[in-house]
Amino acid sequence: MRVLVIGSGAREHALLLALRRDPQVEALAVAPGNAGTASIADQYDVDATSADKVVELARTVGADLVVIGPEVPLVLGVADALRAAGIACFGPSKDAARIEGSKAFAKDVMAAAGVRTATSETVDNPAHLDAALDRFGPAAGQPAWVVKDDGLAAGKGVVVTPDRDVARAHAATLLEGGHPVLLESFLDGPEVSLFCVVDGETVVPLLPAQDFKRVGDGDAGPNTGGMGAYAPLPWLPESVTTQIVDEIVRPVAAELVRRGCPFTGLLYAGLAITSQGPAVVEFNCRFGDPETQAVLALLESPLGQLLGAAATGDLAEFGPLAWRDGAAVTVVIAAENYPGRPRLGDVITGAEADGVLHAGTSRRDDGAVVSSGGRVLSVVGTGADLESARAAAYAIADSIRLTGSHFRTDIGLAAAEGRIRL
Ligand code: GLY
Repeated sequence: MRVLVIGSGAREHALLLALRRDPQVEALAVAPGNAGTASIADQYDVDATSADKVVELARTVGADLVVIGPEVPLVLGVADALRAAGIACFGPSKDAARIEGSKAFAKDVMAAAGVRTATSETVDNPAHLDAALDRFGPAAGQPAWVVKDDGLAAGKGVVVTPDRDVARAHAATLLEGGHPVLLESFLDGPEVSLFCVVDGETVVPLLPAQDFKRVGDGDAGPNTGGMGAYAPLPWLPESVTTQIVDEIVRPVAAELVRRGCPFTGLLYAGLAITSQGPAVVEFNCRFGDPETQAVLALLESPLGQLLGAAATGDLAEFGPLAWRDGAAVTVVIAAENYPGRPRLGDVITGAEADGVLHAGTSRRDDGAVVSSGGRVLSVVGTGADLESARAAAYAIADSIRLTGSHFRTDIGLAAAEGRIRL
C-alpha cells in the first residue's frame, strides 16, 4: 500500500511513523511535511488546501490511500475531490467536516442526536452581546464565561474567563473581524479526548487521552494549539469510554448518516466528565494534536490497514485494536513568545533524536534544522506507567537546545500522582 499524508505537523510525523510500522505499507509520501518527516517519507511542497494539487500529487505518487491530517483541507472539500477522482481517502467530506468547521452545525447535530453538551447561544450582532453575556458565566451563576469563535481557530479561538471585561473584549474582537461568537455554559470536570475511527455508523475508539491547552504549568496563561498530552487515562474507567462511544459518538455518527453526510475519518470527541456524566465540549473532524503523538505511540495494530479499512467501507470487519501496555506522554517544545508571535529561525540541536517529532521546523541549506513555527517539536516518551513515560519524555525535552524555547513541566503529573478523581 502506498500512502500519502497531507499536513506538516507533529501529528503528521506521528502518523507517518505509525504507518511505517505497518508491514503492508510499502511507500510513504507527505505534503508539505517538515524537516523531520523528510527522512521517513518522500516530501512534496504542495499546498495542502488545494484540492486539484492534492489530487494531482496523489496520482503522481500512485497513492492507494490519502490521509488528511489538518482540518482546513477537510473543511474545504479536499477529501471529496480525492474520492471523486477514485482515490481512497481517510478524512471526512466537506459536509461532514462541518462537525468541526461550524460550531452551530455541531450543536444542531448533537441536539438531534440527544447528546449532552454545553448550552450555547450564537451572537452575530454586537448590539446583542451584553444581554447574551448576562445569560452566561458568573452573571448566570457559573464559574466562568466560555467565548468561542464559531469557525475554525486552530485551538486559539476560545477564551474561558471569570472576568466579564476579558470575555466581552474577546467576543467584540471576533465580531469586529466578522466572526459569529458562540457563548457556552461552562462544563466542569476533567477533560477527555476520545478519538474514534469512523465510517458511517461503524465506530472504533482509540485509547482515551488528555491534552493541556494552556501555555503554562498549572493551566496558567492563554490557550494554545496544545502543549502536551498523555494516554491512556488511569483515572477513567473503561465503562465511561464505552458510555462515550455508545451515548455520544455512535448517535452523532448515525445522525450524520441520517442527514446524508456520513463521516469517514477520525471523529474526535472532546469531552468533560461532569458530575452528571460525559458531556461534549467540541467535536473535531481529524486527529488531535498533541494527543495523537501519545496515542499512536501505543498502537500495535497496523495503522495503514486500519485507516484503509475505514476509507474503503471495511471498518466493521477490522476487529479489535491491539495496544502496547503502559503509557505515553507528549511534551510540546514551543518557540519563545508562543502563543504570541513566535521567535523563528533559530538552530535546534537534539532534534534528530529518537522520540522527537517535528512540527514547526525546516532545514536550512547548510543542513541545520531551524525553528519555523510556534510549536516547534513534540517529544514522546513511553514507559510501563505514566510516571516512567513522563520521565522518558522529559529526559528528551531536557536534551533539546533551542534559544528561548519553553515547555510545560506538568504534563500528566496530576494523573500520575492520583489527583484526578471523578
Ligand atoms: N488537541 C486539540 C486539538 O487538536 O484541537
